[in-house]
Amino acid sequence: MQSVRGFQDIHKQDAILFDIMNAKVLSFAQFNCFESLHLPIIEFEEIFANHLGDDSDVVSKEMYSFVDKSDNRIVLRPEFTASVMRYAVENSLDKQVLPKKFFSFGPLFRYDRPQKGRYRQFHQYNFEILGASNESHTDVYGIFLASELIKKLEVQNVILNVNILPKNIELYKKKLYDYLSNKNLSDISKHRLSKNVLRILDSKEECDIEILKNAPRVTDFLEEEELKYRKFIAEQLQELKIDFEFNDNLVRGLDYYNSVVFEFIQKDLGLAVLGGGRYNNLFTNMSNGRTLPAFGFAAGVERLMLATNISAFLRPKLGIICADEECLSKCLQMINSLQEMYDCDLILNGSSITKQIKKADQLKYEFISIIGTTEIQKKEMTIKELSTGVEKIVKYDY
Ligand code: HAM
Repeated sequence: MQSVRGFQDIHKQDAILFDIMNAKVLSFAQFNCFESLHLPIIEFEEIFANHLGDDSDVVSKEMYSFVDKSDNRIVLRPEFTASVMRYAVENSLDKQVLPKKFFSFGPLFRYDRPQKGRYRQFHQYNFEILGASNESHTDVYGIFLASELIKKLEVQNVILNVNILPKNIELYKKKLYDYLSNKNLSDISKHRLSKNVLRILDSKEECDIEILKNAPRVTDFLEEEELKYRKFIAEQLQELKIDFEFNDNLVRGLDYYNSVVFEFIQKDLGLAVLGGGRYNNLFTNMSNGRTLPAFGFAAGVERLMLATNISAFLRPKLGIICADEECLSKCLQMINSLQEMYDCDLILNGSSITKQIKKADQLKYEFISIIGTTEIQKKEMTIKELSTGVEKIVKYDY
């Protein structure tokens, strides 16, 4: 028996880390006034097919789609943003008190080539800010939040890449196409040339990297206003002491972005742990012309887990051994109060105290405390570290 390729069980230490991170990110979202938005796992195919870009990898080859019993074309959601926009259109958010800030979390599905950090089922923390009229402040605020999230999750060795996509992206695409069309590109890039020329900028093939050195640069297609905006973003990030690099080749794999785009790259993995940007046209396209400015980002949970140090989040585990039956209620009550400092538990297996200590050790509890009538009378408890045998007596009012 085995699980489906690219799908994984999250268990043991990973499950602990997954749960701790989820709890931390949920409170991060709440503290920053994001509303939870729980979206369905399936959507009509057109939600993604018509809006992420026909030639994007996600739409052209990665969607899990099927026809249901009513002949609807359904997909397992490959991302949240288009679903959030579908929700925004369906609920006429543009007519409500704005801005709206939404947080979503859950599994996503992409039929990608599985490898370390790339799975067919993965999870995202997704943040969207809709209808904020001060776009420049929103962009800086959003990138700042993303950077705070990365910090909070103790993800090390990351660099922020930023780019501004020109309004006139079509002209840039044409010039890039003209430049690349007579070059000896790798097979994969040759294939992308007519389908999705911008994706070639992402190529990891040596020959493409060499050719791209002299390719037209996206910055040369920015208008004066956009260049000023690029400078503004740079100044703000410097003031916020967020390390970043402008990366002309950062175009993102989804078509809906229209201005600032960014990714946090984890250097050891060589992969983005978080990506996003401004996408003002998605609501307009989905709603036949209405407007709702939008900015958002999403972080990949499995990649964050690979890049963080679990020990930063773990609390010591304390096993309570109840030595006399008449002390059971006191033991249970103290477990409750000790949980402010420890992950604390009553040892439930073992017919003698020695066997219960052995059980605590097998369960990898770092500390134990044996509680009997003597401890309760003396109003103290002895906390023993199992690995060293060191004991500490502390006062405890039972
Ligand atoms: P994305 O760059 O496609 O953007 O995905 C965001 C993050 O999800 C990536 O940086 C990565 O950490 C993680 N991720 C993507 N694919 C996989 C995979 N196959 N396996 C593991 N992790 C993966 C979006 O999805 C946009 N909707 C983000 C956004 C929100 N833009 C605006 N609002």
